[in-house]
Amino acid sequence: MSAFDSLAAAYDADFTERPIARWLRERTHDWLLTLFMPGAYVLELGSGTGEDAAFLIENSIEVTVTDASQDMLVQARQKLEEKAAFASLDINALPDDIAGPFGGVFANFGVLNCTDDWKALAEWLAERIPVGGKAAFCVMAPYCAWEVIWHGLHLDLQTATRRWREAHFEPDEQTRIRIHYPSVRQITRAFAPYFRRTRVLPLGIVLPPSDIYGVIEKRSRLLRTLLAWEKRLHWPPLANFADHYWIEFERV
Ligand SMILES: C[S@@+](CC[C@H](N)C(=O)[O-])C[C@H]1O[C@@H](n2cnc3c(N)ncnc32)[C@H](O)[C@@H]1O
Repeated sequence: MSAFDSLAAAYDADFTERPIARWLRERTHDWLLTLFMPGAYVLELGSGTGEDAAFLIENSIEVTVTDASQDMLVQARQKLEEKAAFASLDINALPDDIAGPFGGVFANFGVLNCTDDWKALAEWLAERIPVGGKAAFCVMAPYCAWEVIWHGLHLDLQTATRRWREAHFEPDEQTRIRIHYPSVRQITRAFAPYFRRTRVLPLGIVLPPSDIYGVIEKRSRLLRTLLAWEKRLHWPPLANFADHYWIEFERV
């Protein structure tokens, strides 16, 4: 049983379909299409409900869709039907039976935050991705400025500083998993023996994290202004201060 099982059925309504999340995801789709060409065969980690795989498949990219949550995989199978291959894959217990080779790998929206052994993951991926292959990850950043300022101003210091302390994800009373917030440097170092970093970008530097979407989404003029600024502020040094950062590598 995965901590994310209980979120699976409502995940699209609660996150995927939210206007800000949709806009951010579209941005990651643009970036994915600069990495993976039609005809490529890629591995997705922590696929959730298969939203990104659906997009890549529409663009003639073949995807093996994996997740540790069986319920997420059920949702992904419903969305993608026979168009993808599916496998259970826990990034904390990497399996031998997924062999590749893959032209690349990606994991969107916080999957890499569910482990702290990025070195083992990089090594496992390096065995399955030949030289020249690409990797892209969207990681929750360690110093989200929005979160610190917003919750700080509301005198909720627990939430404002939650990424700096031992953080857990507790979707219900029975399940609890540790969440890690690695910096760009930590991920770069863990991948360095096998992968060369090629790009890093902030994602959600002007736009807020998901628990604050509602505040912004009901103010359409403000939302339009923030979207415009988000597009402009793609300066790499801001990556650690955004809600997420996008990091790309090439297998060397
Ligand atoms: C925030 S969701 C993101 C889902 C999807 N990538 C997206 O963009 O909407 C995090 C995903 O990571 C998966 N996950 C959590 N821990 C995992 C692990 N140890 N191994 C593989 N997937 C995991 C969850 O089941 C969930 O689908």
